[in-house]
Amino acid sequence: MCGIFAYKGQKTNAAQLVVNGLKKLEYRGYDSWGIAFKTGHKVSIYKEIGKIGEFDISTLKEKVDGPINGHMAMGHSRWATHGGVTQENAHPHYSQDKTIAVVHNGIIENFEELKTELKEKGYKFRSETDTEVISHLIQKYKSLGPVDAVKKALSRLRGRYAVLVLCAEDDRLIAARRGSPLIVGKGENEFFIASDIPAFLEYTRKVMYLDDNQMVVINNDAEFFDLETNKKIDKRIVKIDWSPESAEKGEFPHFMIKEITEQKETIARAINQDEKQFMKIANEIKNAYGTYLVGCGTAGKVCLTGSYLFAKIAKRHVNVTFGSEFPSLQDFITDRSLVIAVSQSGETADTLEAIEVAKGKKAKVLSIINVEGSSMDRISDYAINIKAGPEKAVASTKATTAQLAILTLLAYALDNRLEEGKILLVNTASQINDMLNPRYEDHILNLAKKIKDVESMYVIGKGVNYPIALEAAIKLQEVSYIHAEGFAGGELKHGPIALINDGVPCVVIVANDETKQETISNAIEVKSRGGYIIGIAPENNNIFDYWIKVPEVGEASPIVNIIPIQILAYQLAILRKNNPDMPRNLAKSVTVK
Ligand code: F6R
Repeated sequence: MCGIFAYKGQKTNAAQLVVNGLKKLEYRGYDSWGIAFKTGHKVSIYKEIGKIGEFDISTLKEKVDGPINGHMAMGHSRWATHGGVTQENAHPHYSQDKTIAVVHNGIIENFEELKTELKEKGYKFRSETDTEVISHLIQKYKSLGPVDAVKKALSRLRGRYAVLVLCAEDDRLIAARRGSPLIVGKGENEFFIASDIPAFLEYTRKVMYLDDNQMVVINNDAEFFDLETNKKIDKRIVKIDWSPESAEKGEFPHFMIKEITEQKETIARAINQDEKQFMKIANEIKNAYGTYLVGCGTAGKVCLTGSYLFAKIAKRHVNVTFGSEFPSLQDFITDRSLVIAVSQSGETADTLEAIEVAKGKKAKVLSIINVEGSSMDRISDYAINIKAGPEKAVASTKATTAQLAILTLLAYALDNRLEEGKILLVNTASQINDMLNPRYEDHILNLAKKIKDVESMYVIGKGVNYPIALEAAIKLQEVSYIHAEGFAGGELKHGPIALINDGVPCVVIVANDETKQETISNAIEVKSRGGYIIGIAPENNNIFDYWIKVPEVGEASPIVNIIPIQILAYQLAILRKNNPDMPRNLAKSVTVK
């Protein structure tokens, strides 16, 4: 949520590098954007509302007063929290005297009281944001020198932040974090700072992670400090194995369809885990006294699917909840509990809070993440990397199925049948490879054309595919903006069936398992009320008005069942002229609560 990018180095086109970096981070927030760049003893700011899109840096010269070339710049792509989407509220934010510029990701909880204090001292606010208090506070403590002024200002803040500061009178780039991600990339005589690694992958794969309550001051080198003890920290450089191409669209029109297609390879990659370590983690689950699966949104639906998989395959009960709900359940957590956090980004604030709560109770934490070095990866006792590669479309697809594959494999490992699980998933991966072809996508496109103008649609599933119905509804909502809801098939008759009338599309997920007959009966109930039945199943059935075939993969059915719905959601988005990569009101990686 909100993308930050900064450059300091020998190149003189820092502003251009930052604009390019922001374009790569736009999936984190896209309602407005802005840059600050340093030329001589001046910090200039330029900002706009809307997407950065194709912004051409050569037009910047006409838009700002003075030179634009320099060695240091920073920028921000915003997802609004405090204050509407206006140019004034876009970042960066100047101090009163315009000698300091600040970009910020996170929420400053005590900004109202700080604002009142600063206003009383005569500071004039230009925006409605919480961020502006930071730039004014730094100005207030200016006499301490830039680094100490930033430290002092940060010590006054409550809440979460990733903050970057440029000062007119100083040649250092200053950054700090508490609760929101910030990563330093080290190139040849140059440094990058970004909220996410893909933004600087084309320049360097060497990274240094900033931890909470740490600051980095970049001059010719990067110096790290602990904000609490004021001590210097030696940072390890980590080499990232993502390739720059993996974070680009390549020949695909959108990241979403690229990432859907990548599922041909990602399942096989996900299950390629160190077996000894995997079994050790499975044993932790076995020995835990109470296990919670925790995630948000799509990852939350994956967690719910995991609870069915653990019950079915390993006869093991696990609790499930959303990250945001976990604190309300904390009274049951003890030092013998295990929390399994599922997150693509490893940075979702609600899930991170759940982990903090669990750790506060001395419970163990296992994170299932996609971004190596993310906060969850680093603060957990154990971590499993799902290895899906950078996921940039806001709507999660390949990370979802890779997470499902890992939970399926864990369930088998728990039941001491790791090899059997592997064979199943290798077979599933190969079936997905066969399934994802242009003919299959065209078949789904025909359906999308038929239903593209509907107001509402419903998805039903049962057993392990009930959470998949919920996830299907999220995918459809996110990118097609059609009102979509998922239900457990058996629940229809308890209320939702009142919503069905003539022609309403109802996607029915029919797995070849013990739920098959009942799910078909639910479909018949819908059809009797005029519903248009779209069957997702290995076999056709008379009840289906439209059939989308999926391979028969036994216990791995959730993985194959969600894929046609991802494709349908994508195609509906295109037909309805929505941007599937950047759906309205959403952002990838929700780092605010
Ligand atoms: C929906 C989607 C979101 C995320 C959720 C958690 O397609 O992507 O619902 O699943 O915001 O994000 P992560 O997995 O990064 O914790």
